[in-house]
Amino acid sequence: MPPMTDNWLSDTRMSYDIDASGYAEKVRGLLDRMPYLRASLAAFAEAVHQAGGGAVADIGCGPGYVTAHLNEVGVDAFGIDLAPEMIAIARRDHPQLRFEVGTMTALDLADDSIAGVVAFWSLIHVPDAAIPGVLDEFRRVLRAQGSLLVGFHVGDETRHTSEGYTGRPINVDSHHRRPSQVVDWLRAAGFTIEAELVIGPGEDVPGAVVFARNES
Ligand SMILES: C[S@@+](CC[C@H](N)C(=O)[O-])C[C@H]1O[C@@H](n2cnc3c(N)ncnc32)[C@H](O)[C@@H]1O
Repeated sequence: MPPMTDNWLSDTRMSYDIDASGYAEKVRGLLDRMPYLRASLAAFAEAVHQAGGGAVADIGCGPGYVTAHLNEVGVDAFGIDLAPEMIAIARRDHPQLRFEVGTMTALDLADDSIAGVVAFWSLIHVPDAAIPGVLDEFRRVLRAQGSLLVGFHVGDETRHTSEGYTGRPINVDSHHRRPSQVVDWLRAAGFTIEAELVIGPGEDVPGAVVFARNES
């Protein structure tokens, strides 16, 4: 099947609603096995604290384990996700934290209202043409000196997934990207780049995280 181009938002929501429990099982305990991701979240937490602290949005939070980890390291994080079933699992697993259904294409957050945004492997589902609008949304809601941390698959291809972890049919694309492309988009949106890290550069699909700041 060719990569989907239309209806990506509704197809992504439907896919993660169907696959929410399978995805949650797949990533259970993931951070325990990922020291570089934990280190990235620790550096992000420090940047948020140094800028005065405040609420942080984990956007595309899935089952909420990154949101929970951020709270464990002293960050006042809440989660937003497109898929209501994901939010139901996040609330079930972390009842003390706040999770809301929402889309990064139109955030239900006030201008200049939050201290940080984490988008871990959620921009991967956003087609290239929609990325500038999403980054404008991140910048709109971030206050001056707010931090942004994005994580994504490294590569050039788009992979289509038609079967979820529990074997049920889904319809979702994952766009792999070069860090230089993500950096270019972030700079074009007005962010200052602070750091980038490639994790597992020799693997079939490396990961990358980019740290950026909203200077003004
Ligand atoms: C690969 S999962 C990543 C989940 C989690 N951040 C992690 O690192 O495991 C992608 C998540 O992004 C969410 N997502 C995709 N598009 C979104 C959008 N436009 N707005 C908010 N969340 C979105 C999906 O519902 C899914 O839960």
